[in-house]
Formats: sequence, C-alpha cells, structure tokens
Amino acid sequence: MSGHNVWTHKGTFLLAAVGSAVGLGNLWRFPYLTGENGGGAFILIYALTIFAVGIPILIAETLLGRTSRQSPIMGMRHLTKTHKTSRAWESIGWLGAVSAFLILSFYSVIAGWALHYTWLMLTGSLVGADAQTISDGFDTLLASPSLMTFYHTLFIAASALIVGMGIHKGIESGLRIMMPALFIILMVVLIYGIINGDVGAAANFLFTFNIGDLSLEGWLQAMGQSFFTLSLGMGAIMAYGAYMPSEASLTRTAIAVAFVDTAVAMVAGLAIFSLVFGAGLETGQGPGLMFVTLPLAFAEMPFGALVGGVFFILVLGAAISSSISLIEPVAAFLVERFDMTRPQAVTIMVVAAWAMGLLTVVSFNVWAEGTIFHTLFGRSAFDFIELLTNIFMPLGGLLIALFAGWALTQSEVMKELGTNKTWFKTWRFLVRFVGPAAVSFVFLRTIPQVDGYVIPTLGALFIVGAFALSQRMRVSAS
Ligand code: TRP
Repeated sequence: MSGHNVWTHKGTFLLAAVGSAVGLGNLWRFPYLTGENGGGAFILIYALTIFAVGIPILIAETLLGRTSRQSPIMGMRHLTKTHKTSRAWESIGWLGAVSAFLILSFYSVIAGWALHYTWLMLTGSLVGADAQTISDGFDTLLASPSLMTFYHTLFIAASALIVGMGIHKGIESGLRIMMPALFIILMVVLIYGIINGDVGAAANFLFTFNIGDLSLEGWLQAMGQSFFTLSLGMGAIMAYGAYMPSEASLTRTAIAVAFVDTAVAMVAGLAIFSLVFGAGLETGQGPGLMFVTLPLAFAEMPFGALVGGVFFILVLGAAISSSISLIEPVAAFLVERFDMTRPQAVTIMVVAAWAMGLLTVVSFNVWAEGTIFHTLFGRSAFDFIELLTNIFMPLGGLLIALFAGWALTQSEVMKELGTNKTWFKTWRFLVRFVGPAAVSFVFLRTIPQVDGYVIPTLGALFIVGAFALSQRMRVSAS
C-alpha cells in the first residue's frame, strides 16, 4: 500500500521544498560566502549554477520521487525494475538515507545554538553587552556538552513530533503556519535593518561587481553552495516529490523553489549586513557571524533584544522546516519496508541521529583539538561528518542526473515532464552533460581536503567510471 499518499494541496510540494531549501545555508552561509568572494561576481556564478545545474537536477530528483511514488530507497528499487536498469542505481536511495542521517545529526546541534540565542535575546540577557562578553558567552556554550545536548535534544524532539504526526497533520499543517510566518519575520528584520543599520554599505558589500575578486575557489564555492542550498542529492526532495500531485508542473515548481530560495538568501544577506555594518562591526567568519557579530549588533540597537529574539526564531523555523525534510525520507522507508507505524519509524531515525549528534557536541569540548579523536583522525568528529556529507551530496546529485538523463526510459521521462520537446531536450542536455561535469568539478575540489593521493585518485577513477557507465546506459536507453 506504499505510495499513493498525495499532498492535500497542489501548492504543498512547493511549500515543503522551499521549507527544506531555506535553512542555515541561506541565513548564514550564503551572506558570508558572497562577501568573501567578490559580491556580485559570486552571485552571478551562483545564479548561473542554480539555473544550469541546480534547477535541472531539482527537476530530476522531484521526477524520480513522483514517478515512483515511494520513499527514495524503495522508489529507486522500483524504478530500476520498471525501467529495466541495473540494481546498482538503488545506491542513490541508500546514499541519500545515509547523508540525511549524518546531516540531521549535526544540523540539530547547530540549530540548538539558535535555540540558546533565542532564549538569551528574549530574556534580554545580552542588552548592552560588550564584544568580549558576547564572544565569551559563545565560547561558554561551546564548552558545555550538557547545555549543547539539552538544546540538541529539544530541537530534534520538536522536529520528530512534526514528522511523527504524518505528512498531512504534521508536515503540511506545520509548514502552512511556519513558512508564511518566516517570510513576515524576514521582512520585519530587513525593515529593522534598513532603519537601524546601513543598508547602503550592505548592498555595496553584496552586489558590487568585482570579477577580479573571484578566484577559482570562489567559483567552486558558488557551485557547492547552490547545491547545498537547494537540498539536492540526498533524497529529501525525492521523498517530498513522491507526494506531489501528477498534474503539477515539475519545471515551473522547480524554478519557483530556486527563485524563492535565492530571494531569501539575498534578503537575509541584506538584512544581516545592514545590521553588522550599521554597528560598525567586521563581517567576521564562520559561525561567529551569526552567533557573535550579529548578537553584538542587536545588543547595541533600539529594541535589539526583541528583534534579535524574533530573528533567531526565524533561524529556528528555517532550520526545523529543513530538518523535518531530513527525517521524512528515512522514516518513510522504514514504514514502507518494515511495516512500522510512522511514530515508530520516526523514533528510530531520530534517536539514532540524536546519538550521532553527540559526536558533534563533543567535537567542541571533550574531543576538541588535542584529544585522542583529533589525533587519530586529524580532525574533529564534526568536521569529519561534515566532510562526508560534502562528498555524498554532490555524489548523490551526480548519480541522480546520470540516472534521470541516461538510464530512465526517455519517453516516460518526457511524459512526466509534460512540456514541449525543445525544453525536454534542453533539460536532458543539462542533466546529461552540464550537470555531471559541473558536479564532478565541485566534487574533485572537495576531495583533496582529505590529503594525499588516495582520494584524488579515487575521485578521478570515479569520474571516468561514471562516464563509462553513462556510455553503456546510452546504448541501453536508445
Ligand atoms: N538546504 C539547507 C539549507 O540551506 C541545508 C540542506 C542541505 C538540507 N541538504 C539538505 C536540508 C537536505 C534538508 C535536506 O540550510
């Protein structure tokens, strides 16, 4: 009886996909990366990649979910049978499930920090605090495993509750309240930023076109970010696509998701940098931008505690609408495959991810630099998990593109896309060649971080293998 569950409203897929896409990646990572990489030039590459690679793969992933009408793992198994291709493609589903599990484990810990800051802001604890106090406060949080575990537990339990209530009562109703609220809050923070901050400097910082600042590294980061921000390659979009009504347009929906996601990133960037520049602060680096620099900006502004609290609620909401999309594919698989009830399936996934999350918690204190784990693996557990997901995500996207472009029966794909022939051909060209080439590029750039020759060699072999495979598929597809 798997499958024929469909969203109640035609627009819910859009809402859910936007909920998954808009997250920490938009509110924190995008603004910071843009500033670092030449502003307008970075945004140009980012937009091009979203358009030429992100949207086509988004369409492909949604399509896989909708034609199979099952969770990613079972869905891929089903498709390899009905389209008579190799069982090996099922690995797309498994890879997605593993990535979702890994991402959820650390996403929840980081979102827990936002929970802590929501509390600090709303209780007015940081009003008038100076830079030292605020930066010490962040260090104190990171030094406390119990405090971090507490917030991590709260956040993941809240996500589990929503998914456990089912796709209609839980996810659908949750998103229908949460998403509009998030957009209103984002607007409030932007207006506050314009009034109290320096929006001119922010716009200048973000949109000044300086192609000279854009290194090869910047190109690659722009491409990696466009991938991360659309939640591609890990089954989240596939799982939501399985509930998408057949009459909704894949292309139009994918374009809308990408547009809203990009718009949110830009508005968040404008708002955040208006505040940061308005307070005369540096643009900072890494986690510090959101958890040290921004709280400091709020500490000095009128109604800063209130607006800061509301801002961190925005971060929390964006994170929770992403984390539920990480739970859904695995939970749906457990329900389909082992006939579990939804609450049972959600509990298993969440308890496992929660336990895994403890590794991220201790990465900042007990197992920080200088301890056994660090010495053995050369990096913290958190960095290790993040690196793994940075490899799995493009890998999943690459396989999805190849599978949809080469392995599936193309007449079926065309029916599912339901658009004119020219667009079908354009899309197919993009997923067959442009997507795989671009993703391999990002992929090879991620890999050498592991040091040595082993991994780059594996990467190169992988690319060649994928190409050879695609050639074979071409024979069987035509
Ligand atoms: N897109 C999310 C963000 O911008 C992060 C993310 C990446 C994600 N892959 C995902 C979220 C898969 C949910 C599912 O923050």
